[in-house]
Amino acid sequence: MKKVVLLSCVIALCVVTAAIAVPANRSLTYDKSAVGPVEFSGKVHADAGFACTDCHNPDVFPQMRKGGVEITMEKIYAGEQCGFCHNGDTAFEAKTSCNRCHVR
Ligand code: HEC
Ligand code: HEC
Ligand code: HEC
Repeated sequence: MKKVVLLSCVIALCVVTAAIAVPANRSLTYDKSAVGPVEFSGKVHADAGFACTDCHNPDVFPQMRKGGVEITMEKIYAGEQCGFCHNGDTAFEAKTSCNRCHVR
């Protein structure tokens, strides 16, 4: 019985979080790098026409949670994470445009 109650609480919490925190109207700031903070704008990306599952799938950003993965340039350059699109093809290339993401 306890387990059932706990599980429904977890589910309810997830639903509520997703409903209020959709990045389409939010920005996430990544400020751990020495070259300057990076703002991920939900609006810019929603306006570019992406569906949630274009990013939230096992290959790109599995979790709808900031910090769900540790973002590194090595992965970005390898075509993972932000680099899945920021490869000079779908969107501007990461290697040649540091300060379009890292803004001081
Ligand atoms: C262009 C890529 C992209 C699209 C499209 C996208 N997201 Fe996200 N979303 C992200 C990234 C990146 C994160 C942070 C993930 C991480 O750090 O692991 C995130 C985080 C989130 C979070 C957590 C926010 C927080 O404050 O921690 C929620 C909720 C979320 N997304 C919901 C959605 C929903 C719902 C949609 C569709 C309407 C959507 N996302 C579309 C990239 C995207
Ligand atoms: C599903 C594809 C996709 C993913 C994943 C993605 N982006 Fe983008 N991003 C785009 C597109 C498309 C644009 C708009 C077109 C362009 O500027 O090349 C864009 C625009 C941007 C811009 C606006 C730049 C400007 O000068 O206006 C920033 C900043 C940005 N993305 C950062 C990120 C970061 C940080 C991540 C990872 C957390 C990320 N993006 C993941 C596709 C993506
Ligand atoms: C598409 C957006 C984007 C572009 C373009 C980009 N970065 Fe990053 N970078 C990020 C994100 C997001 C992080 C994670 C920061 C955090 O976790 O706070 C990051 C982290 C870093 C870090 C610290 C972690 C690591 O992997 O070393 C350095 C250093 C860095 N970037 C340098 C650069 C340089 C140099 C360039 C250009 C050659 C560049 N970045 C271009 C998004 C970008």
